[in-house]
Amino acid sequence: MAYCASVSSVLTRYAGSVLLAAGLVTAALGQDYGDVPYVQTPTNIVDTMLNLAKIRADDYVIDLGSGDGRMVITAAKKYGARGFGVELDRRLVRLANASAAKAGVADRAVFYQRDLHETDVSPATVVTLYLLPEVNLMIRAKLLDTLRPGTRVVSHDYDMGRWQPDYQTELEAPGKTVGAVKTSKIFYWMVPGNAAGRWYWKVTQDAKAPAFELILEQTFQRLAGTLTIGGERAQMETVQLEGDRIRLVASSEKGSARARYEFSGKIVNHAIEGKGHVIRGQERHAVSWNAARIESWDPRHFALRGVPPCKEMGVPCGAR
Ligand SMILES: C[S@@+](CC[C@H](N)C(=O)[O-])C[C@H]1O[C@@H](n2cnc3c(N)ncnc32)[C@H](O)[C@@H]1O
Repeated sequence: MAYCASVSSVLTRYAGSVLLAAGLVTAALGQDYGDVPYVQTPTNIVDTMLNLAKIRADDYVIDLGSGDGRMVITAAKKYGARGFGVELDRRLVRLANASAAKAGVADRAVFYQRDLHETDVSPATVVTLYLLPEVNLMIRAKLLDTLRPGTRVVSHDYDMGRWQPDYQTELEAPGKTVGAVKTSKIFYWMVPGNAAGRWYWKVTQDAKAPAFELILEQTFQRLAGTLTIGGERAQMETVQLEGDRIRLVASSEKGSARARYEFSGKIVNHAIEGKGHVIRGQERHAVSWNAARIESWDPRHFALRGVPPCKEMGVPCGAR
């Protein structure tokens, strides 16, 4: 899509994407599948996106489809972060590099003429997007596979289909150049680690201590499963995954003996290293949490790899 695309063409495409997001067929609008036009993110939305991602000076920000470079330049100028943007349109790339130089951040904000689908995103700690719904779905598996757990992804206006955001908001966007409604949506995710499998641990080295066995199914960042303690089913109150950090709260009851367990730790390959507490009545014992993954399987969302975006979006695949 050329920089000089006519306003009406841009409007048509974005009207198309709005309809697309609403699940309507866009064939009549003639939108090219996966072809993202140039539309700027309004300044207040840039600020909110970066703020939401809690950008720090040690962050590495990658903007996929960087336009005039505003996202990475603002991250460098306001927060001292580094990063790069990739953009197909060479005039925009030139403009972005010139703006970075003018802003005094050319050493930290660089722009390349490159296809986002062929871009290595692995150095990122933050990825920013203003693409189209189907393009978000096209790159979702790559983001999940390549980015380190804990990397933040922020998208303007469009979500990631079945990968539910950790947070989303909608706010006034008076500077928006497309659409009748001057509001923007912002979606935020943290890339989850891999917690799926069967985990085993004991809270003391005592041979008679009961074994904990946790079976976890994972769909994106959501976990569900069962916990047994000494072969007895315990009640799982909370099991949460945030990047590579996992938190588990559970309780068990045997006769009149009730115990509560609180664990939090970090997943490192097939181990969890962390701390916890065992609470019995008024007593609260600090314990280490060292769990081993004794069986592993794929998170359920791996099954969505290769599913065409149109299928997931529920629009006819042949229509565009
Ligand atoms: C909606 S604009 C967003 C610009 C900027 N990120 C912002 O938020 O202001 C999307 C940009 O992605 C670029 N683009 C589209 N397809 C691309 C691709 N395959 N690789 C790199 N850039 C692409 C377009 O040229 C356009 O400038």
